[in-house]
This record gives sequence, structure tokens and C-alpha cells, in this order.
Amino acid sequence: MTTPATPPTNQAVPSQDELKAQVGRAALAYVVPGQIVGVGTGSTVNKFIDALASMRDQIPGAVSSSLASTERLQALGIPVLDANEVESLAVYIDGADEIDGKGRMVKGGGAALTREKIVAALARQFVCIADASKQVEVLGRFPLPVEVIPMASQRIVRSFAALGGEAALRMKDGAPLVTDNGQHILDVRGLRITDPLAFETEVSQWPGVVTVGVFAHQRAHVCLLAAPGGVQTLIF
Ligand code: A5P
Repeated sequence: MTTPATPPTNQAVPSQDELKAQVGRAALAYVVPGQIVGVGTGSTVNKFIDALASMRDQIPGAVSSSLASTERLQALGIPVLDANEVESLAVYIDGADEIDGKGRMVKGGGAALTREKIVAALARQFVCIADASKQVEVLGRFPLPVEVIPMASQRIVRSFAALGGEAALRMKDGAPLVTDNGQHILDVRGLRITDPLAFETEVSQWPGVVTVGVFAHQRAHVCLLAAPGGVQTLIF
């Protein structure tokens, strides 16, 4: 015989926003005093940027992966350096739309995937900050963002169709969304990405693909995962 579990009555369940704030604060432990930090994009990273303000006197600045993050960093008095000014970064901290058990991710829900991949490639360590809803067994549940040169988009749509994917142009205010790099985004549904490294390598070579939102070459080394029980640290 089993007894139904009694839900706790006196414990407030943290909101999604509070979980993001918790994991954003937890990421401060990975910021190296005296070193420039790589900063990603998205609502979870926004919480990290807010927390980073408490360390602004300990770091020379940040390299940012989007105009939105740059604005937020600068508004908090954190200097933003151009990626070309740094040779390498100790750490890059960013969110994800999906992360698997080996630290491979899908990113680009915020359309910043190209700059995210560039800054991640400069970093020796990628720390992903996310909530438990982002964990997947196999990448592909979240529509895969792909930044493309506009004149190539329909050819790329057909190439994804041949793989069983359905690609749609991301729209904003009735027109194709234009990225920080002046390009378009395709969101691809229906893929099951069982070999992320091979998939990223292949799609990255298609003419007109600027960046595919699979981060396998630039996978996470650590994931700070927020759940109602607290922040878990996964090391890959
Ligand atoms: C931005 O382009 C994305 O790669 C983000 O890192 C991703 O969408 C996660 O964003 P949230 O923290 O808002 O879920």
C-alpha cells in the first residue's frame, strides 16, 4: 500500500525569476578577480549581470555577447571590452535553451548565438547557468536557432527538410528578425540531434549558415542548475 505524498505547506516554492536570480548569484563564484569575464545573453544572464555589479571593482571588465548585455553591463558601471582586445578569457558565463548530460547545448533563443559562440571560443571554461527545465536527454526539443545570410535562407530550409526538420524564419513585429549582425534566424523543429558534434560540424559548412545553435565544440564544462531544492553543480 502506498500513501500519497503530502505536499509541504509551509515552504514557498521559488518562482522562475527567483531561481534565475539564485543561479545568477551562484555564478559569481566562477568569476576570477583581476580577470575579464565573458558574459552571455538572456534572462538568466541578466540576473548574473545584476549580481556581477557587486564585483565591479574586482574585475577590469567584461566581453559581451550582445548589444542587450552590453547595455546592461554598462548601465551597472562594468566596462565592456571588444572581443578583439582579449586573447583569452578565464571563464564565459551564459544560459542555454537546452543542455544534455555531456554539456552540449542548444542556444540562440535570444538570437545572440553567433556572438555567444565567438566569446565562448575565447574562454577556457564555459559555465552554463540554467534551470532544471532546460535539461534534455537528446538535443532537439527546443526549435534549433540558426543564423543565416538572408539570400541563402530558402536553400537552408530545404537542406533541413532533407534531414526531417521544419525550418521557419523568425519574425518580429511582422518582419524577419534582424540580428545584431544584420542577419536572419531560422528556427528548426522536428530534429533529434543524437550526435551534436557531427551535426554542428556539418551544418556549419552549409553555404549561408553563419552559426548553428548547437554548442558541442563550445560545450559547457560546468552547469549550475537551479531547482526548487537549491543550485546543483554539474561538471562535464
Ligand atoms: C540567447 O541567444 C540564448 O542563447 C540564451 O542563452 C538562451 O536563450 C537562454 O536564455 P534564458 O536565460 O532567457 O532562458
